[in-house]
Amino acid sequence: MGIKALGYVVIETAKPAEWDRFLTDFVGVMRAADAADGAAQYRIDERLFRFRIVPGAREWFVAGGYHVGNRADLDMLASKVIAAGRPVTWASAEQAGTRGAEAMFATSDPAGNGLELYCGEADSDSPFVSPIGVPHFVTGVMGMGHVVFSAPNFDETVAFHRDVLGFRETDMPRFNLFGPDGPSMGFAFLHADNGRHHSIAFGEGPVPPSGAVHIMLELPSLIDVGMAHDRMKRFGYVESATLGRHVNDQTTGFYVQTPGGFDLEIGCDSLIIDPAAWVTTRHEAISVWGHEWAWQKALKNQPTPTQNQEQSA
Ligand SMILES: [Fe+2]
Repeated sequence: MGIKALGYVVIETAKPAEWDRFLTDFVGVMRAADAADGAAQYRIDERLFRFRIVPGAREWFVAGGYHVGNRADLDMLASKVIAAGRPVTWASAEQAGTRGAEAMFATSDPAGNGLELYCGEADSDSPFVSPIGVPHFVTGVMGMGHVVFSAPNFDETVAFHRDVLGFRETDMPRFNLFGPDGPSMGFAFLHADNGRHHSIAFGEGPVPPSGAVHIMLELPSLIDVGMAHDRMKRFGYVESATLGRHVNDQTTGFYVQTPGGFDLEIGCDSLIIDPAAWVTTRHEAISVWGHEWAWQKALKNQPTPTQNQEQSA
């Protein structure tokens, strides 16, 4: 029953060569044969693909593709989505085939965030081999990782994912990102029917111009995360948050800006939960240590009013 895991992501780009370099040389994912419709496909495990990169006019996170157990569950979800007033666009057999799926429909949540729900999985007939020697990515029943979106109509959007799609609440905090006197911001970390702490999450706020906040991939060890961090610096990719450890899912990792404008979180040692027995938490902090965000660094480096006066004097 319900959604099993994040299966894949779909990204539109006017810079496919930049995405190719980012994914293969830096992240260490494997380029697969292009899809029948010409989209570039990349693997991180045995699944046919995990990244579907579609050439287009803009930089845009099109959709998170979530795996549903079987056709009956997929049909039931489509009915619930329609009853909730959201669009359902069924893929043709050919389109579903490009996702490695038996059947698929596209929809969006009340904030307009893109989703594809599908049943049936297709594996590649060759083993995963990273072009730069990454040993493997942590996937299996926990899926590809997670996607974090943003929603100005936060409560309505979270309710859609929980009550219509069937994601369940893992951690439902409010964070004071701007100090104890600043406005607090709601977050929702939701799990699917697997042990990953969250397969989808939402922050309260406007949808970013890239269409997503970040996606997350998990590596087997801190050594692999450290080596990825070194590659980020060597290739000159922009660090969005420094190395750190999250309170809620215990992931140790860092954030880097993708060519699409949203971030990629690369981490390890993520908490595995029992999805059936989990009791919702409400943590009060994002990180145990680290995770200095680029915007925090920028604020810190802003000249003080006194410095401004000195400069203009
Ligand atoms: Fe994350």
